[in-house]
Amino acid sequence: MATTLEQTPIRPFESEKIAFPLLSFEQFDLPSSNQRILGPPHPEGTVTPLALRPSTPNDAALDLDTVIETVRYLQAQGDILTKKLAVHGTLLFRDEIIGIVVDRPLLAPNVAPANESPKEVLIYNHNESPQVPHAPEYVFFYGHKAPEKGGETPISSSLELFRRAQQEVPELVDELAKKGILSKVTYKTERQYAGGSTLRQAFGKAIEDGDDEAARRAKVEAQIARYARGPHTTWEWTSDGIVLTHRLPAVRTQPGTGLPTLFTGLAAYYKNTRASAAGAAASASASGRKNVTQQLYGDGTPIPEEYLAALARITDEIRVLHKWQRGDVLVYDNIVAQHGREPWQGEQSDRVVMASLFDGQVPGAYSSEDWAQVVQALDG
Ligand SMILES: [Fe+2]
Repeated sequence: MATTLEQTPIRPFESEKIAFPLLSFEQFDLPSSNQRILGPPHPEGTVTPLALRPSTPNDAALDLDTVIETVRYLQAQGDILTKKLAVHGTLLFRDEIIGIVVDRPLLAPNVAPANESPKEVLIYNHNESPQVPHAPEYVFFYGHKAPEKGGETPISSSLELFRRAQQEVPELVDELAKKGILSKVTYKTERQYAGGSTLRQAFGKAIEDGDDEAARRAKVEAQIARYARGPHTTWEWTSDGIVLTHRLPAVRTQPGTGLPTLFTGLAAYYKNTRASAAGAAASASASGRKNVTQQLYGDGTPIPEEYLAALARITDEIRVLHKWQRGDVLVYDNIVAQHGREPWQGEQSDRVVMASLFDGQVPGAYSSEDWAQVVQALDG
């Protein structure tokens, strides 16, 4: 079946010199298992991640001020790094600059462990927060400690996923474009699985210990109102928490190119469903996560499992696994690139990856339907 969504080609990115008198960023190649050439609609020959390392004239020592000044300078020249990111989806910064930038007291403002789930748990590729109305535009990961085996962070392109899905499961893309998704997210007073959040962590920042139930609920509802989604985000209190239902767009628009991107966690959702059904080692966590979020077509009908399986199969074919080295920083444009986490062997403490999420433009709808509109959260 043909779909009416456009397929605008992206203009090839003109290579710019990423340089500043005291420091430049050099592109370098990663092993072929850790880097790949993106398929359409990315310009031919676009690698992901784009791997960069600092170099200084005469190998002069680097200092933090120079690094910061260089990044500021490059951004002032027309957002050079941001544009690179929009083309490649993910940038890798490797070598000593990284240690300087991030290897400070670890829990600095807006730096937190990437995910506390047990090491056996597969967190399959997803854009950050597609199941709720507020998603960050940029995701930074810093690798502080890498396990010997496993623990990679996958990278795949949502633009490429859209294109492939449109060719291979056009009915799915048509339905998602037409209906969006209905995302039911359950929050409970108690943590629902290792690595999950509590209601208070999610919406309770204004709650104080002395608040009674009515006051707590009012404060949670005030936070939900910040999504500003009118009838497209509703909620229902339960005996031990709350269930939010969001109607959201799954096909979104990349700013600048206008290209459609499949902004979704549906393949991860499918993998969780499979893991919890299979009784795998990580099944308790998987079924916990599966119960937290339910993803349906926007009209409330289920998305056929074979379509979800197709998204996972395509993602397997288009993803690379980033093998961490201590000090690496991976920067994701959340509109273009999906991330996740592979399981690892050894101890839980063998892998330490920190994350920082940054707001920017909320990935917008590829449609003018009222339910498809997502906006920056209101202050409060
Ligand atoms: Fe994530």
